[in-house]
Amino acid sequence: MFGNKKLLATCITSVVAASLSFSATAATNLKLSHNQDRNHPVHKSMQFMADEVKELTNGELKIRIYPNGQLGTQRESMELLQNGALDMAKSNASEMESFEPAYGAFNIPYIFRDREHYYRAMSGEVGEQILDASYDKGFVGLTYYDAGARSFYANKEILTPADLKGLKIRVQPSPTAVNMIKLMGGSPTPLAYGELYTALQQGVVDGAENNPTALTNSRHGEVSKVFSQDEHTMIPDVLVISSTSWDKLSSEHQVALKKAAKDSMMFHKDLWSEMTDAAIKQAQDEMGVKVVQVEKQAFVDAVKPMHDEALNNPAIATYVTAIDALAQ
Ligand code: GCU
Repeated sequence: MFGNKKLLATCITSVVAASLSFSATAATNLKLSHNQDRNHPVHKSMQFMADEVKELTNGELKIRIYPNGQLGTQRESMELLQNGALDMAKSNASEMESFEPAYGAFNIPYIFRDREHYYRAMSGEVGEQILDASYDKGFVGLTYYDAGARSFYANKEILTPADLKGLKIRVQPSPTAVNMIKLMGGSPTPLAYGELYTALQQGVVDGAENNPTALTNSRHGEVSKVFSQDEHTMIPDVLVISSTSWDKLSSEHQVALKKAAKDSMMFHKDLWSEMTDAAIKQAQDEMGVKVVQVEKQAFVDAVKPMHDEALNNPAIATYVTAIDALAQ
């Protein structure tokens, strides 16, 4: 009798010990959704981040990346994330302004003087404040990825705002982007990125605006043959995690994830330069896209009211002022 009790106690102890050691080493798996292909720089940089986080946590924290909008458009991914059905997503600050107005500060045309100014904002205090602004809306920003400067592409040169007259230009689903095209004199058509190739091909839109990887990685250069470099915006991609998934992580895992995310932003910086130079070359040499330089001043003047309005908009004024102060 006594012997059996002892045996039972030993069994219970080892079951408890086994389950404790299991939970101590059990891996946390996070799902991350985005809308680019596996060869795109942002996919490679997020893979770099996932590899680093796995290493920093001895394999305890793993991130599985779902590319190509497999889990939905950027908007749908953000909604899944807010509903607890997805842990992480990469979106663009343009679309993010509908989920957290602070991101609207990045969407003002010509707010950045150059790439150094853009990096000072993304990696500085104002960038951090914007990433931290959305916890109560169900997500936390982890880092930014350079998404270059956005310019127009269509089947005609767009050298002045007057060239946009009568053109349906696809924009990201963002009130600021819609406003920008209106002020420049074109007709804005908001569409999800994944729908754009077909929309260009079928003439639903006459053109769009993006960085050069849209011409190559997303093959828009097969349809639109002129890229006019007015470089109206520099809007970063943003990596976010749901507040629920964030809160479930141990503080060690939170530190590791934040470090890996930041490191991947700097990894991405060089990769972005290399891959966009290559994209311009490929678009010209292999796809027959004409790349034209643009005298920007008329575009700058057309959208100047947006900057003035932003300084009077309480949701973003302090961020816009802080970004302006980083211009040298
Ligand atoms: C860029 C950006 C994407 C975005 C896309 C778009 O490629 O990096 O995050 O989805 O523009 O225009 O929708």
